[in-house]
Amino acid sequence: MPFFPLLLSFLLHIITTALSTTPPYNAIDQIFINCGSDDSNTPIYSNLFWESDTSEPEEQGPSVPNSAPYRTARIFQSQFSYPVPIETGPKFLRLYFYAATYSNLNKSVFFNKNESSFTVTANDFTLLSNFSPYLTSTPSKPTFNKEFIITVQDDQDGLNITFSPSPKSYAFINGIEIVSMPDNLYFADEYVRIKFLNQPHDLKNTTAMETLYRLNVGGAYVGIKEDTGLFREWYQDDKYIFDGDFGNTTHAADVSIKYTERTPAYTAPEIVYTTSRVIANGSKSLAWSFPIDSGFYYLRFHFCEIQQENTNQNETVFKISIGNQTAEIGADVIYLTSDPEIPYFRDYGTWVGDDGCRGEKYLNISLFPSLTHLPKYSNSLLNGLEIFKLHVSNRSLAAADPEPIPLALDNKPPKKNSKESTLLYSVIGSVTGVLVVLLFISFLIFQLRRRVKDSSSNATMSSWIPPSSTSKSTSKTSGSGSSLPSDLCRHFLLEEIKFVTDNFNDSFVIGRGGFGNVYKGYIDNGATAVAIKRLNPSSNQGAREFKTEIQILSTLRHLHLVSLIGYCDENCEMILVYDYMLNGTLRDHLCKTENSPLQWKNRLQILIGAARGLDYLHTGTKHVIIHRDVKSTNILLDEKWVAKVSDFGLSKIGPTAGTTSHVSTEVKGSFGCLDPEYYKSQQLTHKSDIYSFGVVLFEVLCARPPIFPDTSNIQVNLAEWAKISCKKETLEQIVDPNLQGQIAPECLSKYAEIAIRCLGDNRTERPSMSDVVWRLEYVMQLQEATENRKNDLPMFPLYPLFLEGQPPVTNEIFSGSEDVTSVRC
Ligand SMILES: *[C@@H]1O[C@H](CO)[C@@H](O)[C@H](O)[C@H]1NC(C)=O
Ligand SMILES: *[C@@H]1O[C@H](CO)[C@@H](O)[C@H](O)[C@H]1NC(C)=O
Ligand SMILES: *[C@@H]1O[C@H](CO)[C@@H](O)[C@H](O)[C@H]1NC(C)=O
Ligand SMILES: *[C@@H]1O[C@H](CO)[C@@H](O)[C@H](O)[C@H]1NC(C)=O
Ligand SMILES: *[C@@H]1O[C@H](CO)[C@@H](O)[C@H](O)[C@H]1NC(C)=O
Ligand SMILES: *[C@@H]1O[C@H](CO)[C@@H](O)[C@H](O)[C@H]1NC(C)=O
Ligand SMILES: *[C@@H]1O[C@H](CO)[C@@H](O)[C@H](O)[C@H]1NC(C)=O
Ligand SMILES: *[C@@H]1O[C@H](CO)[C@@H](O)[C@H](O)[C@H]1NC(C)=O
Ligand SMILES: *[C@@H]1O[C@H](CO)[C@@H](O)[C@H](O)[C@H]1NC(C)=O
Ligand SMILES: *[C@@H]1O[C@H](CO)[C@@H](O)[C@H](O)[C@H]1NC(C)=O
Repeated sequence: MPFFPLLLSFLLHIITTALSTTPPYNAIDQIFINCGSDDSNTPIYSNLFWESDTSEPEEQGPSVPNSAPYRTARIFQSQFSYPVPIETGPKFLRLYFYAATYSNLNKSVFFNKNESSFTVTANDFTLLSNFSPYLTSTPSKPTFNKEFIITVQDDQDGLNITFSPSPKSYAFINGIEIVSMPDNLYFADEYVRIKFLNQPHDLKNTTAMETLYRLNVGGAYVGIKEDTGLFREWYQDDKYIFDGDFGNTTHAADVSIKYTERTPAYTAPEIVYTTSRVIANGSKSLAWSFPIDSGFYYLRFHFCEIQQENTNQNETVFKISIGNQTAEIGADVIYLTSDPEIPYFRDYGTWVGDDGCRGEKYLNISLFPSLTHLPKYSNSLLNGLEIFKLHVSNRSLAAADPEPIPLALDNKPPKKNSKESTLLYSVIGSVTGVLVVLLFISFLIFQLRRRVKDSSSNATMSSWIPPSSTSKSTSKTSGSGSSLPSDLCRHFLLEEIKFVTDNFNDSFVIGRGGFGNVYKGYIDNGATAVAIKRLNPSSNQGAREFKTEIQILSTLRHLHLVSLIGYCDENCEMILVYDYMLNGTLRDHLCKTENSPLQWKNRLQILIGAARGLDYLHTGTKHVIIHRDVKSTNILLDEKWVAKVSDFGLSKIGPTAGTTSHVSTEVKGSFGCLDPEYYKSQQLTHKSDIYSFGVVLFEVLCARPPIFPDTSNIQVNLAEWAKISCKKETLEQIVDPNLQGQIAPECLSKYAEIAIRCLGDNRTERPSMSDVVWRLEYVMQLQEATENRKNDLPMFPLYPLFLEGQPPVTNEIFSGSEDVTSVRC
């Protein structure tokens, strides 16, 4: 196919524009090549025109869009170059493509356009590699452009743009645009410093970039005419909003933006800074999600405070998280600008690893109100966002085809085929994960590092949460928290957790177990002590337990259930943050301990609390929640010795409360506390928790663990041992010697009755948790009455107020069991 000679003369032609309003920047180079067209009079706007590049037009396919430069194309079946002589300096290079069927290719039937691809280079950068406009575009929007930023170096004459078709392929181009830009728009050396693997990385003008997204956040589309003289397009951000939470857009039409030397008027048009998105009332964050490839990205955030109420420092402070990492702990726009209406931009770098995951990759960006600065307004703000892909090491920006969908295309996410991801980044391909780092040195992090040197995090706390089960989770750690109820409890950033634990410093450890470690830390500017449980991703306690715990605990609030403050599931970490329990676990105070032994009444009070917590699980919620791992190490004690049931990782949400059906499930729980009937039948009911609680009752009474060695070192099951002792009427011999003389005899008898009843072999024999609660309260009353030397003991138990209907009659509950009748106390 013959090519018509290029008219190179136009390339030197520089159009001087006379725009109605003078833009802030007047580009020296404004070159618009309408490829394949012989018409140099197609206006762009005003008196800016597309230039022809030929004297004879190329043929076109059907349904050609009416607008230049898409109306014509130049088609290449072999390598072809556009040498464009221009001044040195950074340039926008925009390539326009219309993925049509071009008619003069009919002659060459062997072309399958879907398989046709080509490479585009400019000077020594590979911009597009094995690129197919057909696979990149969508049928509903076959026209698009790609924007690159390249600096013509001092030893270069201009830009030499070369199209090279792959074998058995053709290449085409509809339009080429070259616009010069201010030297320091994106490559200002004093600002641009990316820390990559903790090494500063200068973004030099020898770097090339591809614009992937340029958004007028919270505002409307901004066309090339409204830009600052750089012919950029700013798109709406709506379709990138994560999770449909659109926040609240603000538009301050009457505000006049006060550009500064730091943020000159050409940075972004006023309309970008006068529109923004803020968090909607009742929502937690602003978040966007961008389809993206692996590679190195450069992000520019544009901020301008335009809300009338936000005029002071420290009132709106927010965190910025990019991908997996926290970019800012406390961003305060007014702090940066000192006044409202002053625009500011901040740049970050991030590496998105090629983790071998097939399918779509996303760069998710979120802005949360600061948790650590306790700002006056729980809000965050963003006005504009630009995302560029950087050339890193191989003078190439090209990714495997198809590339992430370019700016102009509509809603559909990019079609990803499963071709191998680009090899071009193999040099740094071994780097996994994402690094987000500040580019600007002068950044604010108000937070003074709080070095927790707390003497209470000592050995006595060493089992804040014990190794909690012998279970084997079959689920694999997913690391993904997509279905976690982030609206119900706080979502902590890994950065924050690292911050408060001094990067998981051992001196912060207050507990260790098979699941991982528990750390003590302070959040909310040191106001709140928390226990941070970091699940070991390789432990058997997998992601399922992590999720269950969050799902159950985030919906429940009860005096006797441990409070989950939040969680963190970044970067394959599974971290749970709880209220800190000063007094550790119940077991810490029973056996093998240096703690002074608990008084009998304290023990009763703790047990009543724990029983109330469990009763709430069984009856206080819509669905029965079966804890499945009731034991003394899962009963925690706060500073006032209030019992809190913890560790819901194995819990099951059963049928609706009140029904008697069961859940069939794999048997899980802790050795020695496990209901034998559940073990045999594999059928889980809330009565299995009752059994385990019976074991706890004996643990507390005897100060022995559920399984302990006897004098001849044979492992003894506490439950069986206690039952036998009761039968043999030798219970007093097994009571914790520390309780000597403390327990009123009637009290011991009643207490043992309850415990034995809980350990009933048949689950129908076992009382409900509500029964256990009021029986224990009765025991307490007996004890107090005795201690007060009141001989007028209540004739009947005093029932807890919350029991509805007739209180159960003692004999109905505790009759007929051999175990019970044989107790002598
Ligand atoms: C690129 O940046 C260097 C400073 O790092 C500067 O000396 C040089 O002039 C710049 N080149 C162009 C073409 O702007
Ligand atoms: C090319 O093919 C299309 C349909 O396949 C047809 O409509 C068109 O006329 C053809 N053009 C030429 C020049 O053969
Ligand atoms: C090219 O791809 C499009 C969509 O991916 C498909 O509809 C079409 O049939 C393909 N054409 C050929 C010739 O493979
Ligand atoms: C432009 O680049 C191509 C391919 O690298 C090369 O063959 C050609 O000579 C270059 N042209 C100029 C004017 O530098
Ligand atoms: C959006 O902001 C306006 C003004 O601040 C407020 O009245 C409105 O309730 C907000 N809407 C939502 C959904 O938060
Ligand atoms: C946000 O909601 C709270 C209560 O839900 C209300 O007190 C406050 O006025 C609301 N703020 C705005 C700006 O609507
Ligand atoms: C990121 O966004 C994608 C798509 O919107 C979503 O599937 C994914 O779960 C998000 N990742 C995180 C960590 O939120
Ligand atoms: C904002 O907070 C920082 C750190 O907490 C403090 O140094 C600064 O003085 C505060 N500024 C104002 C205006 O309150
Ligand atoms: C650099 O890119 C070329 C193709 O442009 C490729 O063949 C080569 O393997 C790449 N080198 C590295 C180190 O990635
Ligand atoms: C987050 O980190 C994980 C593990 O390091 C990695 O596989 C994933 O690609 C990262 N997410 C993003 C958006 O880069």
